[in-house]
Amino acid sequence: MNTQIAVPEHARAAEARHLVQVYAQLGIEPVSAAGVHIQCRDRQILDLYGGHAVAGLGYAHPAILRALVEQAELLTFQTNAVALEIRARAAAKLAEFAPAGLDQVFFVNTGAEANENALRIALKHTKRERILAIEHGFHGRSAAAGAVTWGAAQKWYAFPRTPFDVAFIGRNDSTAAQEMIDGDTAAVIVELVQGVAGAYALEREFAETLASRCAETGALLIVDEVQSGMGRCGHPFAADAYQIKPDLLTVAKSLGAGFPCGAVLMTSEIAAHLDTGDLGTTFGGGPLACALIETVIDEIIANDLMENVRVVSAALLDALPVGPVESAQGMGFLMGLRCSAPAKVVRDALLERGILVGTSADPAVIRLLPPLVLEQTHIEELIDALADMG
Ligand SMILES: Cc1ncc(COP(=O)(O)O)c(C=O)c1O
Repeated sequence: MNTQIAVPEHARAAEARHLVQVYAQLGIEPVSAAGVHIQCRDRQILDLYGGHAVAGLGYAHPAILRALVEQAELLTFQTNAVALEIRARAAAKLAEFAPAGLDQVFFVNTGAEANENALRIALKHTKRERILAIEHGFHGRSAAAGAVTWGAAQKWYAFPRTPFDVAFIGRNDSTAAQEMIDGDTAAVIVELVQGVAGAYALEREFAETLASRCAETGALLIVDEVQSGMGRCGHPFAADAYQIKPDLLTVAKSLGAGFPCGAVLMTSEIAAHLDTGDLGTTFGGGPLACALIETVIDEIIANDLMENVRVVSAALLDALPVGPVESAQGMGFLMGLRCSAPAKVVRDALLERGILVGTSADPAVIRLLPPLVLEQTHIEELIDALADMG
């Protein structure tokens, strides 16, 4: 199983001439994609990674293509300085899809931007200066989002200081949460299922402690659903599965099925304290993004894709352990598979067999973030490939 995938020369070499070389890259060169398959020059690959959880509806989805073309023909762009019917529709749809009480929306472009805004809203709303985050959480690479990302300071943060006081609560340490969340805490930011960490689902009791302690102290609970949201966990959001009521919720990645967009959802009470000029973005809430957001939610509901996630992910769990995979963690299609071999070795061996999975910050865990339209037969392909590795 000690395979090394040869990296094709063509695009890789061409990219290297003018693109800053900051990404570890896989040895494939996609040319096109449809459904859950990526077509490379020489072979087809089953995509169980979805471009870091972005391809929620897979590729070349007819409804997405139709919405994109129809909106592009109508109106490609106008700013937030003018009201748009499509923006109002997308916000209403997202608010309805979101956990109860989060019925106000601020559209942005990326996950980091969503978290950056959620954090500043919390600081402004509470007039406090301290943010708490959870060990092993990932929230993005901007100044504020990076400040609450575990380990960023040692790796890539590069800003001389964080924009606010930050402390990290140990995973599932309810006693520490009780002590650390106090009257000086502006907000706690948490991924209920930690994606980059390897699809690690926090314990329910810990999540409930975060929520109840925030309510007691007046701190705001920000739930980052950039990776876990939009049906991926078999529910609209992981907060629904945990039955947690966030004050603010952030979403991006598969929100636009591949079109860059994000959103901050919040309660009416928080939104009522925001004035003209407090927040802003040029591209956020543009008509193309909004047309896709509306279509993504319609498709998830019309095709019962959350039920599909629950059924198909359960089929994989039933087959474990298999090959190098000893156990699973996470929720729905945000799944980590714990392996007896290094995750990179398992990932490369699967890629050699035509299946793309991701790695994670945990060196023993491969990550599955497949499109919500994945079928049982695709999971059988994965199981056969894992069994084949012995
Ligand atoms: C949970 C979570 N939050 C935030 C981000 C940052 O999103 P973006 O890369 O769109 O800025 C990511 C990206 O992986 C993420 O997984």
